[in-house]
Amino acid sequence: MPSTVLQSAVSDAVDDLIAAEEQTFLRRQPRSSEMIVRAREHLAGGATSNWQIAEPQAVWMSHGNGSKVYDVDGTEYVDMHGGYGASIAGHAHPAIVAAVSQQVRRGTHFAQPTEDAIWIAEELARRFDVPLWRFANSGTEATMDAVHLARTVTGRDLIIKVEGCYHGHHDSVQVSVLPEADEIGPREHPVGVAANGGIPRAIRDLVIVVPFNDTEAVARALAEHRDRVAAMILEPVMMNAGIITPHAGYLAAIRDLVHAAGALLIYDEVKTGFTTGPGGVTALSGVVPDMVCLAKALGGGISVAAIGGTTSVMSAIADGRYEQVGTFNGNPLAMAATRATLTDVLTPQAYAHLDQLATDLRAQLEATIAEYRLGWHVVAVGAKGCVTFRSEPVREFRDFLQIDDRLGQLHWLMQHNGGVFLPPWGKVEQWLLSVQHDKADTDRFAANFARLAAAVVA
Ligand SMILES: Cc1ncc(COP(=O)(O)O)c(C=O)c1O
Repeated sequence: MPSTVLQSAVSDAVDDLIAAEEQTFLRRQPRSSEMIVRAREHLAGGATSNWQIAEPQAVWMSHGNGSKVYDVDGTEYVDMHGGYGASIAGHAHPAIVAAVSQQVRRGTHFAQPTEDAIWIAEELARRFDVPLWRFANSGTEATMDAVHLARTVTGRDLIIKVEGCYHGHHDSVQVSVLPEADEIGPREHPVGVAANGGIPRAIRDLVIVVPFNDTEAVARALAEHRDRVAAMILEPVMMNAGIITPHAGYLAAIRDLVHAAGALLIYDEVKTGFTTGPGGVTALSGVVPDMVCLAKALGGGISVAAIGGTTSVMSAIADGRYEQVGTFNGNPLAMAATRATLTDVLTPQAYAHLDQLATDLRAQLEATIAEYRLGWHVVAVGAKGCVTFRSEPVREFRDFLQIDDRLGQLHWLMQHNGGVFLPPWGKVEQWLLSVQHDKADTDRFAANFARLAAAVVA
């Protein structure tokens, strides 16, 4: 049976399936419904981040333990949301609990450095092959500092950014994150689309947007803006448009191009940093950039970020040309959690365990896709993965836009109602496995996925 015949059958079924799953979802969560009503009175929008508002409603949480999380209605889920990619340690990991408890008793904030910061910087230098590091508190701060540093050391203002990459919510990178198809303009010269309210046009105009996996586009942008580009920033594996991997040679080629133009290369490894391997895509690819931004999984569930750079870039911090500052930078609680994460959680054995789980899960999902002749793809890199609901390969954001949004939404709902918590953004997000997950957890995911496949072709 050709997959195209099935695609049209799939289309007809999806709306009805979503409606039925939403009813089940709401029936299972009366306490969340009550909390949302209460929250709306004094919490703007009824949640603590717009991205915590799932459709049909936000899920309010009670607690987490190991690979599981529990909502306020007492329902257990295998956590593959992973706190948007941060919870690689799982929940209440004994090493993190011990490190944080000990530090709480010794003081949680000094705004002066502690010895853990030196140890962590040494370890990050070893894992990412970038010599000098600073700390911050969120991925947004890390990419903001990286862009500021690039502008400081080059004396230039423009940055090249990949269409569909997300780098946090500061002005310089809030351009063409998840634009609509009718906004993006021609592929040769993508239009820079403001990704949020409050982004001044003047700042948006400092961003040159290029498609992923296209070295020609980078060469063209550099030529058209000769001597004006400070840096190119990208997620070296795109993880805010499902997962899109770089073609062989792409990262090395763009590094050579930007360097030849006197500009810098910044990897935003906020999502990929420890989830794809111990030294992120930097180590996996062997293509070391001028700056690396880390956050999310780095702190084992506590808020922390890091910016690593070459000696020449980071000299701007040392000599005061760029003041990298922040009251909570290097916070001792965050440093204690980070040190425990790097020492006791993200070990070689943990990565072997994650690889085993990911390989097994992938095989189960691919068998289901083949059985139902759906033509979809499993894209898994380390502990991260997703199903791309499209037969054609996805090489860049414009391909991603062609994917039927509804399938991602239906998948999220069916996983949720089947006891697996995925990030609530359908096709945009991915799963994250933690070191505390086991095969029973991934089997539950695979069983829910098989139900999805059966339902859409029924
Ligand atoms: C690749 C990437 N960079 C930066 C950020 C921003 O991180 P934060 O939310 O910690 O500010 C995110 C958040 O999802 C991200 O995915």
